[in-house]
Amino acid sequence: MTIRIIGTGSCLPENIVTNDDLAKIMDTSDEWISSRTGIRARHLAKEETTAQMSAKAAKQALEEADMKAEDLDLIIVGTLSGDYVTPSTACEVQSLIGADHAVAFDVNAACSGFMFAMNTAYAYIHSGIYKNALIIGAETLSKLMDWNDRSTCVLFGDGAGAAVVTADDTGLMKFTQGSDGSKGMVLACKNRLNNNPLVQNPTEPDYVYMDGQEVYKFAVSTVPASIKKVLEEAGLEVSDIKYFLLHQANIRIIQSVAKRLKADPDKFPTTLEHCGNISAGSVPILLDEVNKKGMLQRGDKIVLAGFGAGLTWSASVMEW
Ligand code: UT7
Repeated sequence: MTIRIIGTGSCLPENIVTNDDLAKIMDTSDEWISSRTGIRARHLAKEETTAQMSAKAAKQALEEADMKAEDLDLIIVGTLSGDYVTPSTACEVQSLIGADHAVAFDVNAACSGFMFAMNTAYAYIHSGIYKNALIIGAETLSKLMDWNDRSTCVLFGDGAGAAVVTADDTGLMKFTQGSDGSKGMVLACKNRLNNNPLVQNPTEPDYVYMDGQEVYKFAVSTVPASIKKVLEEAGLEVSDIKYFLLHQANIRIIQSVAKRLKADPDKFPTTLEHCGNISAGSVPILLDEVNKKGMLQRGDKIVLAGFGAGLTWSASVMEW
């Protein structure tokens, strides 16, 4: 018994900010951002919250799956930018969509969050505990960015992607996942200020910090290795795969992975041009775009891969 994706959905905030828009408020340019990353614009939330975007994406996924919210047993949201410390975004989503019978919780695995959510849903469903799950990757990263740090803030965007998975004989074939906490500080965001009266707070709050080159090196070695691992375990070749849906951090990372796998770069669809990096939201939003464009047929084999803060990474191969 495995899990199969039977519906997808996504939601991006209305407000679009281009590279030229950013160049008006900081020392950057469309040329620098697009040539180094491939990113041309991103959606940044003004009104939308992580839970609201998640719920919209979830409703689309349920509709495609032809499933009612009350039939869900499990909701897992991968996010590092929920609206509250508690309740979890997953519990908010449960309430917003009326999934009264589901158990709901978040996982924080940064840009691997959707993948870790899917792997967790697999574990519950494979073991027979649950049958139907809603998995989501969603972020409102704009509220956590240091808007004085041009090397990082220009890269990220907001949005949510969702998938409904159900118990089936075919679907997810193999997955791998990993973490390396010893390198956690290369991409970090401290918690909110400490309200303990015994503790003196720093004068400035901390926002997202990234050592871009370290993360780059980690990504271009770990992602191809984890994809090769799942393909080998599944007894598949690179040529058997229709699409590789990678975390959308940087077009140069995606091109490097394609080269290392000796795969056709056309098999790597992207959203980063118009979305930027949406951390846990990247993979499910890309999956939804590919699905909505009718690019997937039943039986196609696809690879999903995420990597990011933690450090964390995951790759999976599935039959659509
Ligand atoms: O989901 C998390 C995953 N994150 C990632 O995958 C990020 C991986 N890393 C990267 O994608 C790249 O390292 C970046 C795109 C973040 C940076 O590219 P880089 O080629 O490593 O640039 P750099 O940080 O070495 O900066 C080069 C220059 C510097 O100027 P100097 O010191 O050479 O004069 C920066 O100050 O570019 C400057 N710079 C900028 N210039 C214009 C940095 N940010 C900007 C900017 N606009 N936004």
